[in-house]
Amino acid sequence: MATNFETHEFDVLVIGAGGAGLRAAIEASATGVKVGLICKSLLGKAHTVMAEGGMAAAMGNVDDRDNWKVHFADTMRGGQYVNNWRMAELHAKEAPARVHELEAWGAVFDRTKEGKISQRNFGGHRYPRLAHVGDRTGLEMIRTLQDHGIHQGITVFMEYTVVSLLKDAGRVVGVFGYDRERGRFRVFKAKATVLATGGLGRAYSVTSNSWEGTGDGVSLAFHAGAELLDMEFIQFHPTGMIWPPSVRGILVTESVRGEGGVLRNKDGKRFMYDDIPDNYKSQTSTDPEEGWRYTQNDKNAKRPPELLTRDHVARCINREVKAGRGSPHGGVFLDISWIKEKIPNSAEHIKKKLPSMYHQFMQLANLDITKEPMEIGPTTHYAMGGIRVDGETQATNIPGLYAAGECAAGLHGANRLGGNSLSDLIVFGKRAGEYAAKYAKETSVVSVSDAEIEAAYKEATAPFERAAGGSTEGPYQVQYDLQNMMQKNVGIVRLQNEMEEAIDGIQKLKARADKVAVQGHCEYNPGWHTAIDLKHLLTVSEAITLCALERKESRGGHFREDFPDKSPEAAKYNNVVSKATDGSMKLRREAIPPMREDLKQVIEEMK
Ligand code: FUM
Repeated sequence: MATNFETHEFDVLVIGAGGAGLRAAIEASATGVKVGLICKSLLGKAHTVMAEGGMAAAMGNVDDRDNWKVHFADTMRGGQYVNNWRMAELHAKEAPARVHELEAWGAVFDRTKEGKISQRNFGGHRYPRLAHVGDRTGLEMIRTLQDHGIHQGITVFMEYTVVSLLKDAGRVVGVFGYDRERGRFRVFKAKATVLATGGLGRAYSVTSNSWEGTGDGVSLAFHAGAELLDMEFIQFHPTGMIWPPSVRGILVTESVRGEGGVLRNKDGKRFMYDDIPDNYKSQTSTDPEEGWRYTQNDKNAKRPPELLTRDHVARCINREVKAGRGSPHGGVFLDISWIKEKIPNSAEHIKKKLPSMYHQFMQLANLDITKEPMEIGPTTHYAMGGIRVDGETQATNIPGLYAAGECAAGLHGANRLGGNSLSDLIVFGKRAGEYAAKYAKETSVVSVSDAEIEAAYKEATAPFERAAGGSTEGPYQVQYDLQNMMQKNVGIVRLQNEMEEAIDGIQKLKARADKVAVQGHCEYNPGWHTAIDLKHLLTVSEAITLCALERKESRGGHFREDFPDKSPEAAKYNNVVSKATDGSMKLRREAIPPMREDLKQVIEEMK
């Protein structure tokens, strides 16, 4: 039967066409190998287009005190020192070159008065560092990479879902998937495969992630035997829309605060002044005037507390809401309209700096942000954990398999700084493409067994068989129950007993997912796509919860009410998830390799 499936063959196959996937494909293709690119959505619609604020790169265009060392130290401090320090070093050193390369490929950045690429302030970055295009930076990145990539001879497969990775003698040799429209299965053989599938926010009920963010790459890698790292670290972005309910979770960019927006509770109080962490005290201002000057790039001013790291700001918002000081729909107020006191043409200024935010609130909430405060609350935004990779090459522990971007772990440690995601995509996307191509050139042609393809086909079509056999529960209720449970039990504030409940709940949901039935056939069948996503959502949820139970401390995106402090012991390890021989998940702690002396020195200097 396997021979009936249309088969495509590549040297390098990239899964995902966001920033990391496109950059990997471009790099691999530039070395002369044959490259295929599979995306779940249409080309140009990957979730990267939703990234708003900018890409962090220490170019020093707005403040010449900035350099890679400051960026490295900021990233490590933001990640609370459980980052892969080599990745943090490479990222800080290589991001400026990657941004300039985008510029050379046609990206249109906002400019300083002198004509340099403009850079804006963001939480946790000591100096203005985010190269941006209004609040549509991700869109510009994808437009540029796509325009560039399309001329490189890359073969693109749009609207395809990958069902499983194919292996031969312990090596990944391609993937099995189907086109989402007609449901036709395909075999893709490849000497090297790069996973660049993005995030997993759809495991939660409130998220900024698009429909694609179902953790596919992380789950595919795990089931193929790859190790996962630090899955407990989930970033809850402090500012997502909360009203009306249909748009709950959609991102409200941190740039609003970077441009002077402030957070207030229902009493009008700027509550962020109430709690400034010790390690940020020396850099944070308690004077509102000074905070405003900082957002206007006054080099002598300290940052306002609204621009502290996201984990902290999200918890402060949570605290206000729980204490009954929230806004009518269960969030707090984010106000940029107040700058009319400071800037003569403030409405025009806001529309120029934050065009998407202006339209988003106008169209979705009928609210003019130049006149009124927004209602916002935390939203599940980003996974710092993911597939474990080698920092230089982005290789996983499975030969032939690479990963880059959000689905790969290490760079961001316990908490990612805003803007470090877009730069991560281009720095490590390039590296993944380069090393995957090198591997492909050094290895022989691949063979794929019919038995493996048949097993993947059977698994993918099982929901139809179950419907024919009389099963009745569809995938949507299982997905809904999982998302609500993850939001409630493994969310911003975590507790041992709630997470134990979640582990139990996940096992029950897995049993239900194994019986899920879908009516009809493979063509135009969203219920079937959801049934396939369920395995990924359950896999990543289990890994997140297991790691969160293991880490008995609070660090970055992982906050435990029962262990609210950082533990010096837990600072020394990463959580590594792997697949046991019986297919279950097992967890081990692994010591973080000691940091190189010269990098330790950099961190000391920057303190
Ligand atoms: O707030 C934002 O614009 C998000 C940026 C990011 O997550 O890097």
